[in-house]
Amino acid sequence: HITKEFAAKIARWQIRHGRRGLPWQDTRDPYRIWLSEIMLQQTQVSTVVGYYERFLKRFPDIQTLASATQEEVMPYWAGLGYYARARNLHRCAQVVCNEWDGRFPVQAADIATLPGIGASTAAAIAAFSQGERSPIMDGNVRRVFARFFGVHGQPGLRRTENALWGLARAMVDNAPADLDMTAYTQGLMDLGAMVCTRSRPRCDACPLTQDCHARQHGCQQSLPTPRAK
Ligand code: ADE
Repeated sequence: HITKEFAAKIARWQIRHGRRGLPWQDTRDPYRIWLSEIMLQQTQVSTVVGYYERFLKRFPDIQTLASATQEEVMPYWAGLGYYARARNLHRCAQVVCNEWDGRFPVQAADIATLPGIGASTAAAIAAFSQGERSPIMDGNVRRVFARFFGVHGQPGLRRTENALWGLARAMVDNAPADLDMTAYTQGLMDLGAMVCTRSRPRCDACPLTQDCHARQHGCQQSLPTPRAK
């Protein structure tokens, strides 16, 4: 029964309690959404906001970014760190201009072929720009799924990843037709970051608490299984 309600519960929770009103949340432009997702990968939301706005003022569309030089782009990334992200960003803009006619692809399977974009980021961009029903699985989301469904096994092992991705896929496939895919996708990220935290999860504030495996068994601290050292 819960598989049918899982996604809708998270989407409803996101609309009331999740992160709203951020500058990349009022657009369906895949260029802007892509930029925000790359910036958010290793940087917290409050830091990204200023960088995102400065970057878009200088590079308002993918053509402007593609025709700039690497040296012109780097100052707009300075301070965000992980500079490979900026180099991939620039390369990706050139690939979209050369191979996609300047139109950023909107299907997750196409987006995932671009430089610097993994399966989960591709799915997030497709969900936020088009409402595509593609599952995401990042560090925060992995914790929500591992705890709720009781997926033991080290992250990164093929068997564990297959189990987690399979559940994530089943949740979007079994959700009602009117699921708000933007709220659901953002809700998973927000729940993992704000409620289902690694230490001291706030289970009393969680919309899934009643059916959560980890909560029922009191094993929140041992899920997800720690990586072997
Ligand atoms: N990390 C990656 N994508 C994010 C998003 N859309 N919101 C918050 N944190 C994120």
